[in-house]
Amino acid sequence: MIPAIKVKKVHKNYGASHALAGVDLEINTGDFFALLGPNGAGKTTLINILAGLALASSGSSYVMGHNVVTSYREARRMIGVVPQELVFDPFFTVRETLSLQSGYYGLKNNNSWIDEIIHNLGLADKENANMRTLSGGMKRRVLVAQALVHKPPVIILDEPTAGVDVELRQALWRFIKQLNHDGHTIVLTTHYLDEAEALCSRVAMLKQGKIVALDSTTNLINASTGCSVRLRLTSDILPPELQPLLKTYDAGNYILEINDYAQIESVLATLRVMQVQVLEMELLQPDLKEVFAKIMGSVDNLELL
Ligand SMILES: Nc1ncnc2c1ncn2[C@@H]1O[C@H](COP(=O)(O)OP(=O)(O)OP(=O)(O)O)[C@@H](O)[C@H]1O
Ligand SMILES: [Mg+2]
Repeated sequence: MIPAIKVKKVHKNYGASHALAGVDLEINTGDFFALLGPNGAGKTTLINILAGLALASSGSSYVMGHNVVTSYREARRMIGVVPQELVFDPFFTVRETLSLQSGYYGLKNNNSWIDEIIHNLGLADKENANMRTLSGGMKRRVLVAQALVHKPPVIILDEPTAGVDVELRQALWRFIKQLNHDGHTIVLTTHYLDEAEALCSRVAMLKQGKIVALDSTTNLINASTGCSVRLRLTSDILPPELQPLLKTYDAGNYILEINDYAQIESVLATLRVMQVQVLEMELLQPDLKEVFAKIMGSVDNLELL
C-alpha cells in the first residue's frame, strides 16, 4: 500500500541554521499520527514542505505517492493543512471563503459538503459573518474548514487547538475522529500531550530537526521503564531507606519511582518495619508527557557527551 506520507533524507537550511537535519518518515494510510517536538524542532517546516509551501534543501517527499515538487498539483490535492498561524482574507464571509477555496481546487457543487463542515465545526451562526469580525477561536474553526473543503485523504493539523475553547475542542476531535474512521489519514502536531496520547496511535518526536523517537503510542509508553507510586503516610518523615526512590514531595504526597510492581512489596515492608502506616496509595503509570520529557532530556544528555 502507498504510504500517505513519505519523507526521505529531507534537509532544510535557513542560512546557517539547520531546521531539518535529515528526516526520514513514513506515515501509513489511515493512521492517526502525532508529530511532536518542542518549539523550533522543525514540525511546521516539515509540514510546509509537504504542503508545497517551502522547498526542501535536499531530499524528497511524497503525499499519497505524489512527489511534492515534481507532481505539485496532484500532491497538493491529496493534502489539507490547518496552519498554525491565522491567515485569511478579511473581506469575505465564512461561506464565501469556503466557496472560493472550493473554486481553487476546481470543485463545483461542493455546497452539501460545505454545509456539513459548517455544521460540524459549529460555524452555522457565523456563516454570513465577515472574517474580520470573528473571534480568534472562530477564525481557527474557519481554518480547519478551509483545510477540509476538498475532502483531502491526508489532513494535517498544526496545533489546531491552541487558544480554542473546550466546546470546539470536543466538536473538532469528534469530527476529525469520524474523518479518520472514514479512512482519512490524520497528522497532528500539538503541545497538549494528553490530547496526542488520547487520539494518536503512532507518534514521531522531532528535536532540532531530527526524529528522535518513532513508534506506536503504546510501545513508547510501555517501553518507558518504571512507574511511580503515590503515598500518603502517617509519618512526616520518609524512612531513609526509601529516600533514594523519592521523586517529588507535594502537600503530604510522596511520589516514589519504582522499577516494577514487585518493588512495591519491599517499599511496604520497609514502611511496616518503621511502623509507618499508609493512608493512601496510588499507582501512577507513565504517560506520554513523561515519555516526551524523558526522551527530550536523554537527547540533551547525548549531545553533551
Ligand atoms: N522562514 C524562516 N526563516 C528562517 N528561519 C526559519 C524560518 N522558518 C522557520 N525557521 C527556523 O526553523 C526552525 C524550525 O522552526 P519550525 O517553525 O519548523 O518549528 P516548530 O517545531 O513548528 O516549532 P513550534 O512548536 O514553535 O511551532 C526554527 O529554528 C525557526 O526559527
Ligand atoms: Mg510550528
